[in-house]
Amino acid sequence: GTTPDVDLAIFGGLGDLALRKLYPALYHLDRDGLLAADTRVLGLARQEMDIVAFRERVHKTLKTYVKPASLDKACLSRFLERLDYLQLDFSHPEGFHAIRQWRTSAPHGNAGRPMTVYLAVPASIFGDICHNLHASGSLDDETRVVVEKPIGYDLESSREINDAIGAVFPESRIYRIDHYLGKETVQNLIALRFANPLFGTQWNQNHISHVEITVAEQVGIEGRWGYFDKAGQLRDMVQNHLLQLLCLIAMDPPSNLDADAIRDEKVKVLKALTPFNRESITRDVVRGQYIAGSIDGSSVPGYLDEEGANTDSRTETFVAMRTEVANWRWAGVPFYLRTGKRMPEKLSQIVIHFRQQAHYIFDPDQRNLAANKLIIRLQPEEGIALQVLTKDGGLDKGMRLRPGPLHLDFNSAFPKSRIPDAYERLLLEVMKGQQYLFVRRDEVEHAWRWADRLVAAWDELDVPPRRYPAGSWGPVASIAMITQDGRSWYEDY
Ligand code: BG6
Repeated sequence: GTTPDVDLAIFGGLGDLALRKLYPALYHLDRDGLLAADTRVLGLARQEMDIVAFRERVHKTLKTYVKPASLDKACLSRFLERLDYLQLDFSHPEGFHAIRQWRTSAPHGNAGRPMTVYLAVPASIFGDICHNLHASGSLDDETRVVVEKPIGYDLESSREINDAIGAVFPESRIYRIDHYLGKETVQNLIALRFANPLFGTQWNQNHISHVEITVAEQVGIEGRWGYFDKAGQLRDMVQNHLLQLLCLIAMDPPSNLDADAIRDEKVKVLKALTPFNRESITRDVVRGQYIAGSIDGSSVPGYLDEEGANTDSRTETFVAMRTEVANWRWAGVPFYLRTGKRMPEKLSQIVIHFRQQAHYIFDPDQRNLAANKLIIRLQPEEGIALQVLTKDGGLDKGMRLRPGPLHLDFNSAFPKSRIPDAYERLLLEVMKGQQYLFVRRDEVEHAWRWADRLVAAWDELDVPPRRYPAGSWGPVASIAMITQDGRSWYEDY
C-alpha cells in the first residue's frame, strides 16, 4: 500500500544520480499511488536556483528519463508540487538551519513524519553532512539516512566512512544501497529459492556442480576516469554487486524475512568465501583491460585512450575468477564470476548448473548433453528459465534427448506489470522503514576484507591486466580458466 508521509531531503539534488534515477523513481511511485499525499522532497545543492527553476529542471529530467506513456499531466503537476529546493554549502554548518525550518513548514507539522536524508554525493563529504545535520538540530530519533556505494576503497576507508555516519545515525536507520538488490529478478531469487521446495532440496553440493555469475556491460567508463581508475572493476562491481548476488544464491534459508535474519545469513557466506592468496590468484583469477575494438559495429577507444586517461594505468576493467564458499552446503562447488566493461552485450545472468544423472540409460553419445540448468537473467530482459532434457520429436529419432527451456519471461507472463527500476523499489522500502534490501555494515566490511586480500596478492605479484579488445568476452585466459575444468561460460538463453 501507500507509504507514510515522509520528508525526503536529497543532498546532491542536482547531481547525476538524482536527475537520472531518483526523481524518475519518485515520479513513478507517485504515479502508482504509492506516495502519501503530504510526502515532500527537498533538493539540496550548492547552485543558486529558485523553486520555479528547480521544478523546471526536474520536469526536464522526467521528460528525458520517463517513458512518454507514463507521463501523466495531472500526476506530473502533483509531483512537481511536492518539490522544494535549498541552496546549501554542505561543508558549512550555518545554512543547515534552513532544513529544520523546512521540516516545520510541513502542512500538518512534522510530528510522526520521518525525515529521510539521501546522500547522493561522494562519500568524502558524508561525514561533514552528517555532522552538520546533527549540529543544526535537523535530526530526530526517526531520521533515516540513505547512502550509495562506493563505501570506501578498502576495509580501512570504509570503516572511516561508516564511523562518520555511525557517529550520528544508529545502524537501524542507515540504508546502504546496492542497487542490484533493488532489481526485480534479484528479489525473485529469494522467492524462487525459499518458496519452491523443488529447489530448496536440491540447493547444495550434492546436486549442483557449479555456479556462474556474469555481469557484462557494453559501456566503458563513461567519462568517470577519475573515479574508475582508482577503483577498477573489482572494487566497482565485484566487491558489491557480484558478491551480493553470490550471497543470495549461496546463503542458508533465513528463519524469516526480517532484515537481520537475511543479512546474518549473507554475512556467513561472506565469511566462508575462500580468501585468495599469491598461488590461487595465478590459477583462479584473470584480470583484464580493454583495448580499442568495436561494439555493435562502431569502433570505440581502448581504456588507455579514454578521456583523462594516463597511459600507463594498470587498472582492470574486467575480472573473472573461480571462487568457493567453504562450508557444508557448497564445499567443492566452484563459483565462476566474471564482469567487464566493453563486452559485446549488456548481459547479467546467473546460471546454476545441476549435476548429471547418476545412473544414465540413454544413448551413450549423449552422455555429455547438458544437465539441468537454472538460468536467472537480470538484464536485458528479466526472466527465469530451467533447462530440462526431453525426448527429441519425430519417429526417426528413437529415444534421443534434446535440451530445452521451461521458461518464465516476466514481460509475457505478466504483461500488465511494468518492471520497476531498482530505485523505485529501494526508495519505497526506505519510506516504509524496511531494511532487508540494504547492506549492513558488517557485510560491507567482510566483502572488503576479501577484496583487499585479492588486491594485495595482485600488488605483491605485480600482476598486469591482460588486454582484450572492446567488444569481446574478455581475455582468452578467462575462457581457458573455465575450460580447464571441462566447462564453459554459458551464452545461450
Ligand atoms: C555501478 C557501477 O554501481 O553499476 C558502474 O559503478 C556500472 O560502473 C553500474 O556501470 C552497472 O549497473 P547496471 O544496473 O546498469 O547493471
